[in-house]
Amino acid sequence: MSGVNLLLGAAVFAASLLAADNPPPRPDPGKKLVSEICSFCHGLAKLKGQSYTREQWSDVIKGMVSEGAPVTDEEFSLILDYLAKNFGPSEQGPSKQGKEEK
Ligand code: HEC
Repeated sequence: MSGVNLLLGAAVFAASLLAADNPPPRPDPGKKLVSEICSFCHGLAKLKGQSYTREQWSDVIKGMVSEGAPVTDEEFSLILDYLAKNFGPSEQGPSKQGKEEK
């Protein structure tokens, strides 16, 4: 019986060794959270093309949380970092500043 536990332990140990040796491509934990959590009710297409400031994103995420998005405090800041960095107005986002016509 304890042999099973030993085997399991060895497997977990081997898996963690493998993981350490060969880290999966995971550039940004926020990205993973966004693709998991923010696609729950609507597609991620909702985010594409948005260019909000960090403050605006904070409001958007708060709004999503009040809609029922399961976001912890820790996840909130990771998501905010990711969105502000990748969908912010200063980045080379798809949407231009709107006001500049000439
Ligand atoms: C519990 C359901 C739910 C989850 C989870 C959710 N949303 Fe939403 N989201 C909505 C609803 C409802 C709307 C408003 C309806 C619409 O515009 O289609 C919306 C609209 C939006 C919009 C467009 C409206 C706006 O204010 O610009 C954005 C951007 C957005 N969500 C971002 C996010 C992000 C980022 C996350 C992850 C943190 C997320 N959503 C997770 C329900 C959700």
